[in-house]
Amino acid sequence: MTTSSAQATAQIGRVETAGPTPISSEKLTMSAQDKQSEGKEMLAATWTGKKSVTVVKVPVPRITDPHDVIIKVTATAICGSDLHLYHGVMPGMQKGDQLGHEFMGIVEEVGPAVKTLKRGDRVVEAFDIACGSCSFCSEKLFSECDTTNPSADMEQMYGDRIAAFHGYSHLTGGVSGGQSEYARCHHGDVNLLKVPDSLTDMQVVLLSDILPTAWHATEMGEVRKGDVVAIWGAGPVGILAAMCSRHRGAARIILIDTVPHRLDFALSKLPYLEVIDASKHDVYTRLRELVKEGPHVSIEAVGFHYTKSLVSKVEMMVGLQTDPPDMLNEMIVSTRKGGRISIVGAYAGFTNHFHIGAFMEKNLGMRGGQTPVQKYWHYLLSCIEKGELDPSQVITHTLPLSQAAEGYKMFDNKEEGCIKVVLLPHE
Ligand SMILES: NC(=O)c1ccc[n+]([C@@H]2O[C@H](COP(=O)([O-])OP(=O)(O)OC[C@H]3O[C@@H](n4cnc5c(N)ncnc54)[C@H](O)[C@@H]3O)[C@@H](O)[C@H]2O)c1
Ligand SMILES: [Zn+2]
Ligand SMILES: [Zn+2]
Repeated sequence: MTTSSAQATAQIGRVETAGPTPISSEKLTMSAQDKQSEGKEMLAATWTGKKSVTVVKVPVPRITDPHDVIIKVTATAICGSDLHLYHGVMPGMQKGDQLGHEFMGIVEEVGPAVKTLKRGDRVVEAFDIACGSCSFCSEKLFSECDTTNPSADMEQMYGDRIAAFHGYSHLTGGVSGGQSEYARCHHGDVNLLKVPDSLTDMQVVLLSDILPTAWHATEMGEVRKGDVVAIWGAGPVGILAAMCSRHRGAARIILIDTVPHRLDFALSKLPYLEVIDASKHDVYTRLRELVKEGPHVSIEAVGFHYTKSLVSKVEMMVGLQTDPPDMLNEMIVSTRKGGRISIVGAYAGFTNHFHIGAFMEKNLGMRGGQTPVQKYWHYLLSCIEKGELDPSQVITHTLPLSQAAEGYKMFDNKEEGCIKVVLLPHE
């Protein structure tokens, strides 16, 4: 590890222990302000430390900005991104933070500046909070909105601030999450999608994140008709990325995971898949047996809290790196020369031993990013309505909100064949 990367890793460590992020935006109200409601209380899932989620009573949020919308949450999912928080590896979490960035519900109340929504509308929320009017939002890069995230720590770490996210650490704004009975949604006209009553909550709730994320993976990888696509990670995001690749005309789709029952589940839903059990096979060798020249597109749907090599584990444990290069290096050597690598699995900081040589010499392309949900959700909703895509296929468990802790544990440990958990706050 070089001195500069050591310094940078140390800097991330500092952020983790830096305490509350200074709040410069008065418009984007934070968790603490959410708590100034009028005496009414609700249940909310909160982060209370590593592998600890506690459902507690907190005040019901209220309108604090003219563009706010309060919704009664009817369904809210637990995401692989929540697992990074659960494992305590995501910088900027504070005990008591309200979790949840995938949710939907019924509009209770709208602020005076909200134009397109009214009480009673059924809506899905986007995890990325966009203003709708900055230059990045104008380019439909909503997840990179320049105005909603007040975190100075993020700017110091990344050179820029990405958008604020619901329920996702103080680096992305410290905004209250929606694994709760009610939620406050910012810039309601931009960040809420009206959904028809003809579709169930289970059919549309994943428009809040992982269906658009799966689509974003195929957009960044430019998946085209006839392509061979390899996907690392058979979690809900990887399985939906397979579904989206098929929708775009990929000829072959190969799904890779270390957990055999996840691959079996994926095959039972999408029988056209080919699978590689990475707990038994060397992935490069097996992929090249299946596809002589390698896949045109490789998609990373794993994320940084999973490691593969002992070196990576040790370097992360002792603070020499924050993120593993394992999956990325496997993708770089496996992908066809001239191919495309797309990263939607979340990464937070610095990695060592990145195979820059193979990446450069093989003429590969690589893109990654948090999903601009609002860019894709109208199209994806129309696909659900036409029956062309069915994201509800990955939902294996529904639980009452009061059992959020059990839901996190089951999802994290992949118990009981768990692929995706949806919490129901009012049942
Ligand atoms: N970019 C975005 O906007 C965005 C949005 C949502 C989720 N995500 C990220 O997508 C990733 C996947 O989310 P998910 O909900 O499916 O999570 P998940 O944790 O359920 O799935 C990850 C899968 O990767 C598998 N895996 C672990 N090590 C592996 C290896 N060496 N090779 C192959 N597979 C391996 C795990 O067994 C698991 O099945 C997460 O990192 C999450 O943070 C990103
Ligand atoms: Zn998510
Ligand atoms: Zn913006």
